[in-house]
Amino acid sequence: MRATAVACANIAFAKYWGKADPWLNIPAVPSISLTLRGLETVTTVELDPALEHDEITIDGELISPPESKRAVELLDAVRACAQSRCFAKVLSRNNFPKASGLASSASGFAALSVAARAAYGLPFDPVESSRLARRGSASAARSLFGGYVELPQGLPGDDSLAARPLYPPEHWELRLVVAIVCEQPKKMGSRPAMEQTRASSPYYAAWLEHAPKLAQRVREAIAKRDIEALGHASEASFQAMHAAAWAAEPSIFYLEPASVEALHTIRSMREKEGIPVFATMDAGPQVKAICLPEHAEAIAQRLSNTKGVLRVLITQPGPAASLIESPS
Ligand code: DP6
Repeated sequence: MRATAVACANIAFAKYWGKADPWLNIPAVPSISLTLRGLETVTTVELDPALEHDEITIDGELISPPESKRAVELLDAVRACAQSRCFAKVLSRNNFPKASGLASSASGFAALSVAARAAYGLPFDPVESSRLARRGSASAARSLFGGYVELPQGLPGDDSLAARPLYPPEHWELRLVVAIVCEQPKKMGSRPAMEQTRASSPYYAAWLEHAPKLAQRVREAIAKRDIEALGHASEASFQAMHAAAWAAEPSIFYLEPASVEALHTIRSMREKEGIPVFATMDAGPQVKAICLPEHAEAIAQRLSNTKGVLRVLITQPGPAASLIESPS
């Protein structure tokens, strides 16, 4: 039994940061993202009765515990559902380099959840796969769907939480221009950083209160295809998230000097040249510019000429996760 699935990365306009339930990995705030065409993970899951444990290879590298723990837990959940005890070989490949600073965990867990269910003979069910992927990495729950996607906040113990599609990619032809400023692995993963923010940031409570309002503004802006409203709400979301993390003790600070330069480039294009372009950032130093297709090339040009920016990528709305090979 063998199945292969593909899933795309996503970037959030309204950020998820903080958990209502750390054991079930349930977000404490709603998040809204765009799935991105071309930034893909392709994953094959093949059952092998001769194996004594799962064997997971990512980009040619065999992964062992503790790195493989979340993927093995996902496979355990699928096995429980399929009433199987057979271990599997997992081969996963990202078409964007791990060091590019773009999270591969979202597309990775999304592709794994689709391929694993199919390999174990379970029907294709994006909602169920989204729920499974959420346990691996909550942002991954959103990569099951194409275009504009929401992962609502959840309640402790509510393991049914999954993402839901808001609008297909064609709803709005936005572009996200990614400025890569650092290719080293990030300083601190989202999971421990969220926990450190919860445990010690004086602004964490304010973030929890404010984030749903920002998500509502993002939702309305996407519905109306209003770039100004989306841009301002998205900037407010990443800034509040980073501010809460920055105020933690020890402080979590993801910006590099070149991130600050790129943020200035974006702000200057907006304020001095009247181009509707807005920034967002995740748990790392890369800066992403949110803009309309007609401005993407000029923004990419300016960002690549910004001090410290290594490369830029222009990304666009992408499709849902899908099966590309199912067991015959
Ligand atoms: C800043 O989904 O990587 O990118 O659920 O602990 O695996 P875990 O966290 P993860 O966090 C993503 C955080 C973010 C914002 C976002 O994508 O919404």
